[in-house]
Amino acid sequence: MASPLFLSFFLRHFLVLPRRNILTSAAGGKCDLLLSSIGISAMHMQLLYIDHIVIFYRTDFGISNISLPARICRNNLKVTALTNDFTAHSVEYDVASNSVRPLMVLTNTWCSSGIIMPQGTLAQTGG
Ligand SMILES: *[C@@H]1O[C@H](CO)[C@@H](O)[C@H](O)[C@H]1NC(C)=O
Repeated sequence: MASPLFLSFFLRHFLVLPRRNILTSAAGGKCDLLLSSIGISAMHMQLLYIDHIVIFYRTDFGISNISLPARICRNNLKVTALTNDFTAHSVEYDVASNSVRPLMVLTNTWCSSGIIMPQGTLAQTGG
């Protein structure tokens, strides 16, 4: 029968679990400006599993600095600041291509919150 001292030595030296590197290469302690503007202010954002970031801004402050694709317009008579809005108030940032694409939100995202479901779906609630 193995002595407790031998078992302790064996466990410590031969059954060491692989170390998990917690820090990613992006955590090197520096900050880089990737884009001079994304067209909106980042009110809140959500990192997706696919290395994209969905960034939200509110809709009740008038136009943003990024347009929706051609002929797409958010018509909302309840939004007194701007009833016919051709600008985006949300964008999706793609880390790999370092680019943004405008996303359309139908209602104001001010005071909303979000969660990534286990299968990767972004659920955005409130506002
Ligand atoms: C939008 O553009 C104006 C004029 O250049 C600038 O003052 C403002 O900071 C910009 N806003 C955003 C969210 O990029």
